[in-house]
Amino acid sequence: MTNSREIRVAIAGVGNCCQALLEGIEYYRQNPQDTRGLMNVDIAGHKVTDIVPVAAFDIHAGKVGKDLSAAIYIPPNTAYRYPGVHVAPYGVTVQMGNVLDGNPPHLQEFVPTAKEEPCDIVGVLKASRAEMLLNFIPTESHQAARAYADAAIHGARIAFINGMPTLIVCDPEYQRAAIAKGVQLIGDDVKSQLGGTAIHRALATLFRTRGVHLSETYQINYAGNTDFANLMARGQSKHKTKQEAVTSLMPYPVRMSTGFTHVALMKDRKTSIFWINGANFGNAPLHLEAKLEVEDSANFAGVMVDMIRYVRLARDRGVSGVLDSACAFLTKHPPTQMPDMEAWEHLVEFVAGKRER
Ligand SMILES: NC(=O)c1ccc[n+]([C@@H]2O[C@H](COP(=O)([O-])OP(=O)(O)OC[C@H]3O[C@@H](n4cnc5c(N)ncnc54)[C@H](O)[C@@H]3O)[C@@H](O)[C@H]2O)c1
Repeated sequence: MTNSREIRVAIAGVGNCCQALLEGIEYYRQNPQDTRGLMNVDIAGHKVTDIVPVAAFDIHAGKVGKDLSAAIYIPPNTAYRYPGVHVAPYGVTVQMGNVLDGNPPHLQEFVPTAKEEPCDIVGVLKASRAEMLLNFIPTESHQAARAYADAAIHGARIAFINGMPTLIVCDPEYQRAAIAKGVQLIGDDVKSQLGGTAIHRALATLFRTRGVHLSETYQINYAGNTDFANLMARGQSKHKTKQEAVTSLMPYPVRMSTGFTHVALMKDRKTSIFWINGANFGNAPLHLEAKLEVEDSANFAGVMVDMIRYVRLARDRGVSGVLDSACAFLTKHPPTQMPDMEAWEHLVEFVAGKRER
C-alpha cells in the first residue's frame, strides 16, 4: 500500500547528482534535528524525508542490475560523502535505459556501456507508481532526454523535472502535452542552491541596481566529475543556459563568455571564478573578481528536493503544466525569466495558494 506522505520519484541517470540527492535525504532522515542546508524544511506539509525513489534507469555496465543504494557508489561517481550516513537497500533495481546519445566516446572512457537490451521504460514507470521522472542524464544527450520526457509525459502520464539543459520545459509542444495529459513540468537545467549562476545573477543585479554599467564578464568553472569531462567536449547547451541566465537580467547587451575545465583531482568539488568589467560614475572603470568553491552535486540536490515537493504540491491541487514560479526561481533556463526576488515572491504566493503556478 502507498503511504500518502510518500513522494514517489523515478530517476534517469544514477550519477553524482543522484548520489548526492539520495545520500542527502538519508542524512536528514538520520539527523532529524538538523535542518541546516535546507531552503525549506517543510513545503505545505511535505518534508525532504518523504521523497522515496521507486525506479531508476542508467546505461553503465556496473550500475544496471544493482540495487540503487549500491549503484550510487559505483565509479566514476565521486560526490561528497556525508559523514556517517549509510544508505540501506531500496529494493529498487537500476534498469537499462535507452543509450541513444547518452554515452559518446569521450564519456565511454569513464562509463562502460551495459550490454542489456533497454527495458520498457513506460512499463517500469507505470509498475513503480512513480509520480514524477527526474532527468539527470549527461548534458547534450538531447535524444535520450526527449525519450525520457516522452516516456513520462506521453507514456506514463507523470510529471517531469528536467535537471539538464536540453530545452524540454521551454518547448511549447511539451507544454501543451503536459496540460493535455494533466502532468507537471519543471525545468530546464537546475540553478544550484548557491552556484555560479545564482552568484553571477546576484552580481549582475547589484551592477544594475547601483547604476554601474556592466560591459563584459566571464565565468570559469572547473571540477573533476564526469559532468565536467562531458561539458569540455560538448557543453553548448550549458553555455547557453548559463549565459542567458545572466544576460537576460540586463536592460542592455552584455558580452559574456563561460568556460568549463576538467581537473580530475578536484572530484566533485567545483570552483567558479567570476570576472566583470564595468564603469561607474562618469564612466570610470571598475573591475570585480570573485571565487566560489562548492560541492557540486550537493548544490544541485539542495534545489531538487524543493522542485520535487513543488511538483507534489501542484499534484495535490490538481494543477498541471509548467510550474512557472518554481521554474523561474530554481532553474537556469525557465520558460519565463524574471529577477530572482520577483521569482521568489511568486513562489511564496504559489505555496500560499495565491498563485496557481
Ligand atoms: N551542480 C550540478 O552538479 C548540476 C547543476 C545543474 C545541472 N546539472 C546537470 O545534471 C545532469 C547530471 O549531472 P551528474 O553530475 O549527475 O552527471 P553524471 O555524469 O555523474 O551522471 C549521469 C548519469 O547518466 C547516465 N546515463 C547516460 N546516458 C543515459 C541514458 N541514456 N539513460 C540513463 N542514464 C544515462 C550515466 O551513466 C551517469 O550515471 C547533467 O546534465 C548536469 O549538467 C548538474
